Amino acid sequence: MKIVEDVKEMQKLSKDLKRDKTIGFVPTMGFLHEGHLSLARKAKEQNDIVVMSVFVNPLQFAEGEDFDTYPRDRKRDEELAEKAGVDILFFPSEEDMYPEDFQTHVNVEKLTQVLEGASRPLFFKGVTTVVCKLFNIVKPDRAYFGRKDAQQLIVVKKMVEDLNMDVEIVPMPIVREQDGLATSSRNRYLNEEERKSAVCLYKALKKARQMVEKGTLDTKTIIQNMEKIISSYPFTRIDYISINRTDDLKPLKHIETGKTLISLAVFVGKTRLIDNIWM
Ligand code: PAJ
Repeated sequence: MKIVEDVKEMQKLSKDLKRDKTIGFVPTMGFLHEGHLSLARKAKEQNDIVVMSVFVNPLQFAEGEDFDTYPRDRKRDEELAEKAGVDILFFPSEEDMYPEDFQTHVNVEKLTQVLEGASRPLFFKGVTTVVCKLFNIVKPDRAYFGRKDAQQLIVVKKMVEDLNMDVEIVPMPIVREQDGLATSSRNRYLNEEERKSAVCLYKALKKARQMVEKGTLDTKTIIQNMEKIISSYPFTRIDYISINRTDDLKPLKHIETGKTLISLAVFVGKTRLIDNIWM
């Protein structure tokens, strides 16, 4: 596995590789876990070359969020990426990505006003800007995004469509721990007691799925039941629970089968966790 730190070097490498090879790309913020690795393995299956980036993007963290404490472990990331079949691991520096006079941003306007965007107003502007830059540097044929961050996936797809970017976005299923908690770099912030409570997100989503399967389509009733489950776990505080259409993220009064995203964000202690199901 080759390690590249320099933006220009990565760009040149990709340009040369593209002559006769396809590139699959997995953008990450590192502290790799099974979720990230499942994306890399799929990329390996579908492309000649797999590029993974590890960059904790300052632009998508607001004041008071966890940019400084976000877990970083480069050695471990290198080992795990190599085992998952990554050919090139790209570790750009902050100075190289955002030189002093940086002043251009990419913003998807409507889809970013709700859900995560309502709670974190500048988050998606930071995500789309860095993803656009990374696409220009890595020049992937396909890029892999987890459904764990459902709105991010929908927003990135919209950016690609609106700006005619020549890359296929491949959505990937959520990888979970044994008890159902979605794997996340942020899970490591949880202490033992909080970790036990963190399963409430999955339990609430499971309840929602069961209710729909048994014929309850009224979203208010479903959300009330989900709230009850979350509140029964200690250390939890709901940020939002929402049921939206997957294409335009409009809130739904009734479940539309095949087009519905049920998502939630819950603080467990000080850690904010997100999860969702598509149905
Ligand atoms: P990060 O949180 O590191 O996630 C990188 C990719 O891994 C995202 O596409 C995310 O959806 C996926 N992922 C994370 N946990 C997952 C899980 N449990 N199952 C499946 N996929 C999972 O998302 C980001 O980084 C950043 O916003 C980024 C896109 C890199 C831009 O900075």
